[in-house]
Amino acid sequence: MNRIIKLFLIELLTLSLLLCGCSSSGQTKKDPISEKTSATKATERIDDGRTVVGISMPDRLLERWNKDGAFLRDNYADAGCEVILSYADNLIDKQISDIRDMVSQGADLLVITAVDGAAISAPLQEAKAAGVKIIAYDRLIMDTDAVDYYVSFDNYKVGVLQANYIIASLGLNSSADAKTIEFITGDPVDNNAKYFYQGAMDTLKPFLDSGKLIVPSGQSDFYETATAQWSTDIAKQRLQIILSSYYPKDMRLDAVLCANDSTALGATKAIASDYQGLNNVIITGQDGDIPNINNIFSGSQSMTVYKDLKQEAIVTLSIGLDILGGSTPSEDLIKKADWDFECSYDTKTYNNGNKAVPSYLLRPIAISADNIEKELFDSGYYNRDSTGQIFATK
Ligand code: BGC
Repeated sequence: MNRIIKLFLIELLTLSLLLCGCSSSGQTKKDPISEKTSATKATERIDDGRTVVGISMPDRLLERWNKDGAFLRDNYADAGCEVILSYADNLIDKQISDIRDMVSQGADLLVITAVDGAAISAPLQEAKAAGVKIIAYDRLIMDTDAVDYYVSFDNYKVGVLQANYIIASLGLNSSADAKTIEFITGDPVDNNAKYFYQGAMDTLKPFLDSGKLIVPSGQSDFYETATAQWSTDIAKQRLQIILSSYYPKDMRLDAVLCANDSTALGATKAIASDYQGLNNVIITGQDGDIPNINNIFSGSQSMTVYKDLKQEAIVTLSIGLDILGGSTPSEDLIKKADWDFECSYDTKTYNNGNKAVPSYLLRPIAISADNIEKELFDSGYYNRDSTGQIFATK
């Protein structure tokens, strides 16, 4: 099918969704109160001519999932779809019942960020059997052939950016001195956490092997350094124990590789309460949450990896509309869309144990005190109010 016809079909689909009354079902699309929480049992999918998109987010604790949920809901609602948005409160059972509920309400498409990537294959098989299409959003869903597409950032690259920041800040390529590091990685049931870890570890490996980088706690294995539910408190407690066990007064800690901003907040608190050294400890992060941005300005966090969530939601909308229109999105989607941001199509890297899931990957960027104004403020992601408080604008 040539590009013009394809474009025409997309326009036609969007128009027909708008005209068919999908958006006038009485559900208030942009009102969070419309978010479904009731747990009806999975039943046959009701095909009543509506176009229903179910969005299942993991939790509301992190700034990002609130933004992701809102962007996705607004994008699909503006395209004329009926949207059901739910938050699983980090509970696997709740996410499973949310998904079954969406299918029973006639969902045609599910966009899911899994609480536990390996625990939802049963409801997804049911959804697939009912003809529902599934996009894994940000986190890959494991061990099932039911997932059709994956949209995320280059997760391996996130870890590489964090590690490269540490290498440059500690001068590991030029200095002869050995430096110390500790690791706080992510939730082991989140498939992304392993990619972040691997990207960082592969990059740091030459320095760990040569002894230029040492880990006084001896804890560098993924599971040893993992943080259940990406919890700030768990990260804080683990680092406090490490500091009191391995860092007496004259023992210097140079860096803590934290996989994301919620764990970085925990590390920052532990350093403030329990580190006896006077040096500024390098702390990495990911997401660009407002407390962490404030910490980058104050110097208590060194960097974060920013991911433009609007881009992720835009790509997810395009894939969804293509699927709903009966197409099979591929690399062509990127050419056709002509976005003003980078996105790559990958059919090999993200194997979920059942199949290599076709993936659309976006580019994360490293943010530190050196480029934060330019990358996050001048470009309009964040602004300050008259009292200097930072707020997100996108
Ligand atoms: C996301 C991160 C987020 C983390 C904790 C990961 O899957 O990619 O952006 O910080 O989950 O919610």
